[in-house]
Amino acid sequence: MSLVIDYDDGTYSYQDYWRGRVYEHRAELLALRSLLQPRHTGWMADLGCGFGRLTPAYLDQGRPVVFVDYSLKLLGQAMDRCGPPVEGRQYVAANLNYLPFRPASITTALLIRVMHHLPSYDRVLREVSRVAQDEWIIDIPQKRHARAQLRGLSRGQWRTLREPAPINLSRQPPAIFLNYQADVIVHRLAQLDWSVRRMLSVSNLRSAWLKDHVSADRLVALEGYLQPRLASIRFGPNLWYALSRGFSTRQPDWDNLIACPQCLGQLQLLDSANIVCATCGHRFSYHNGIWDLRWPRPRLPG
Ligand SMILES: C[S@@+](CC[C@H](N)C(=O)[O-])C[C@H]1O[C@@H](n2cnc3c(N)ncnc32)[C@H](O)[C@@H]1O
Ligand SMILES: [Zn+2]
Repeated sequence: MSLVIDYDDGTYSYQDYWRGRVYEHRAELLALRSLLQPRHTGWMADLGCGFGRLTPAYLDQGRPVVFVDYSLKLLGQAMDRCGPPVEGRQYVAANLNYLPFRPASITTALLIRVMHHLPSYDRVLREVSRVAQDEWIIDIPQKRHARAQLRGLSRGQWRTLREPAPINLSRQPPAIFLNYQADVIVHRLAQLDWSVRRMLSVSNLRSAWLKDHVSADRLVALEGYLQPRLASIRFGPNLWYALSRGFSTRQPDWDNLIACPQCLGQLQLLDSANIVCATCGHRFSYHNGIWDLRWPRPRLPG
């Protein structure tokens, strides 16, 4: 199954979701800044980038960045924040199950707050492993964090929390909002040749009471102290991993990075708005600064 969550639904605003979540947002910027390695210089791919919320953590590194999301609306918002496309800044609408990139063309992959939404998460882990070469920062929402265990004890859900399968916390199934057994995912990532360089426990102080009584500045300062220290006991709801697989200085130019999401063939621009794959003949488009390389092709409205 490779259904994709629809953030283009007219009634939902992901930017609104973040209003009032200053502590969580700053806790994540902190984690990302501390996990990224400045020595890397090649392409960074923010996979499931949303509206570019996390860009303050990495845009000043001056690296080429490709923003990837299924949602055209969110990519447009990312462009409003980060500026129009230029040589080293590109916007791509794509399905993470079929990434339109050549093997080992991305130096650093980010996958933050996306695992919740992946019914076929193993397929996405394999796709990211195919395209990313050196470094991958992944946030794994875990089902056995400290508060969930306490809650689980009182509700008799101890066994569910210990099972290897993800748990669906969506209040509206069949919609999904998955939390994982982090060790199971890390084991899978090791099979895909990734090793854990560092790990952080994130959003350790997420509590309505604390947010009402302690300033965001103080919470974030304490969070920074706790993130590395609580990682080994897997305390927080989100475990962030810096994975590595080597180091290269490869930095393909844009034309040698993108490829047909269906067959990985060479893409050719027919004119300013139309693209065709030289191998399989499927057509794609370029609109308002966004390469629309979603596969399978979304049905047009109406
Ligand atoms: C919760 S948002 C996170 C956005 C951003 N990473 C952040 O932390 O603010 C999840 C994002 O993943 C994207 N997404 C989910 N499944 C996807 C898929 N299969 N292919 C491409 N994008 C996907 C959604 O469109 C959405 O923008
Ligand atoms: Zn093709």
